[in-house]
Amino acid sequence: MSKQKRARYAGSVRFYKHLLIACIVAAIVIPTGFCVFLTVSNRALHRTVKDLEAQVTELQQSAQITTASISASDSSSTVSENAAEGTEEEEKLSISTDDWNLFLVNEQNFLPSDFTVELETLPNTGKKQVDARIVEPLTEMLDAMEEEGLRPVVCSAYRTIEYQTELFENYIDKRLAEGWTYEDAFYKARTRIAIPGASEHHTGLAVDIVSKTHQQLDDAQADTEEAIWLAEHCAEYGFILRYPEGKEDITGIEYESWHFRYVGEEAASYIMENEITLEEYLALAE
Ligand code: DAL
Ligand code: ZN
Repeated sequence: MSKQKRARYAGSVRFYKHLLIACIVAAIVIPTGFCVFLTVSNRALHRTVKDLEAQVTELQQSAQITTASISASDSSSTVSENAAEGTEEEEKLSISTDDWNLFLVNEQNFLPSDFTVELETLPNTGKKQVDARIVEPLTEMLDAMEEEGLRPVVCSAYRTIEYQTELFENYIDKRLAEGWTYEDAFYKARTRIAIPGASEHHTGLAVDIVSKTHQQLDDAQADTEEAIWLAEHCAEYGFILRYPEGKEDITGIEYESWHFRYVGEEAASYIMENEITLEEYLALAE
């Protein structure tokens, strides 16, 4: 369209007709479109709200299920706690301090003067003796170790009062030679070598087991394969680690990774599993 024609059209009746038609069309199309848009959005919004409601209901249901299972497990743990308490009660009742295998010897319970024991020599130990009743479980334990390629050595077993006195005095003499006072040497000695009459070795129920590769009774003994195996398996044969680490205030004896005491399988499992001492186990019976 030329410039002249455009000028004529701008002011013509035709122009105003077209303008009117455009306004009418716009007046119809724009609100209709807006309404359609609103309807569609509303529907979409409605669907989203419904979806959200469904999700909320689902979550509420699963929360109810979880709460229900938590309370169920709570009550079942109460049941098992009760069962455990019951078991403990039973164990409390079944502990008999008179049982030969639970015989307690320590500084508070000296060996009675009328004490007797039937001794038997342990095979392959250079004539070391123990209570005849523990030869079998002890031999089985040592055999099991050998079968696993370990090399246990029973370096001490039954001891007379005289022999214990000799060990005790030797220990003190060594400390005195190092410059200790007699009093300090004596108090140290009683935490390492029981006072004669207060040693479990008098009963024939205790043995010291070390590794053939490391026969010193020292801290490093605990790191030998033999000591590690014994700590893990001794209870299966009725033995306990009698002087555990951290229980010195109860036993009065420093940690000895080599000293094993026969108490029978039931007591041994309980003591080793619960990491307690023979003193604590026997106290459960009181
Ligand atoms: N070494 C342990 C405590 C004893 O002499 O019996
Ligand atoms: Zn010992």
